[in-house]
Amino acid sequence: MLLDLESVNIFEKEIAQAESLEELNNIKVKYLGKKGIINNLNKSLKNLQANERIVVGKQLQALRDRFENIFLAKEKKLKQAKLEEILKKEQIDITLPGFPFIAGNLHPITQSYYKIVDIFTSMGFEVAFGPEVEKDFYNFEALNIPKDHPARDMQDTFYIDDEMLLRTHTSPVQIRTMLNQKPPIKIIAPGKVYRCDSDVSHTPMFHQVEGLLVDKNITLVNLKAILTLFIERLFDENTKLRFRPSYFPFTEPSAEVDIGCVVCKGKGCRVCGFSGWLEILGCGMVHPNVFKAVNIDHTVYSGFAFGLGIERVTMLLYGIDDIRLFFENNINFLGQF
Ligand code: PHE
Repeated sequence: MLLDLESVNIFEKEIAQAESLEELNNIKVKYLGKKGIINNLNKSLKNLQANERIVVGKQLQALRDRFENIFLAKEKKLKQAKLEEILKKEQIDITLPGFPFIAGNLHPITQSYYKIVDIFTSMGFEVAFGPEVEKDFYNFEALNIPKDHPARDMQDTFYIDDEMLLRTHTSPVQIRTMLNQKPPIKIIAPGKVYRCDSDVSHTPMFHQVEGLLVDKNITLVNLKAILTLFIERLFDENTKLRFRPSYFPFTEPSAEVDIGCVVCKGKGCRVCGFSGWLEILGCGMVHPNVFKAVNIDHTVYSGFAFGLGIERVTMLLYGIDDIRLFFENNINFLGQF
């Protein structure tokens, strides 16, 4: 007998102790490999007598089968353990809640800007732009506000020098457009404007939308119709509207438009100063002096203009009582819209 029980035990013990597939493989090579123990024993069979050779050869074959079975069983076990380890490590709990996306939103002023632009473009108005650093001529002079005109006091102006200033309203775009285009003209001009003023209802920079329509036979009736439609679309169809006589140097006649208070529906409250009305925009028929400044024959053409503050409209839409909130960049405030 070439193989003692001891060797069998050692093999089984080694296999039992193997902790990885690599280790297991080394043991396999050692016993079952080409130059392994079993093969070496096989080679030494030739030294035996023929009758012994047959018996021992059979024993060796049985041993090889046995080792192989033990090996395969262990291999299966280790592979299974490895798979389980991987599954555990890479486990995904699909019942966990997902990560919320921090989605931004448009600034409330930008939202109102788009709403207003949408309403007017749907009525056939084109959108025009002008510079924020403007010439005195476009901002005042051509709008019938000469240098010593008391109306200059209506708007606290940031002057850059004698000629240049930060535009105080979007009305200079009226002049620029009429100098570049022949009637019919039908534009709105949204953008930033600047006034040296700051309190709960004023910020040094704010936004306006200018409107200008010039053609033959344009009257106050057209102005009222367009503005009524606009207000109904921006607020709601039941919004009350009133045109109150007012004064602007570049329109004649001029009016201010009030809407029924959106908070108390006209009953009277703190927001509307218990009047039931909220001022929302300025408007009027283009003054003949303005037409003269841009060489449009006021005996042939007439037109209307209006200007509204986007912050003002947004405050009314959402019941906001301090304009400065728009520019403090508080995410909690801005995220609500
Ligand atoms: N430009 C005026 C203002 O800022 C508003 C306005 C525009 C009034 C057009 C009449 C016509 O107060």
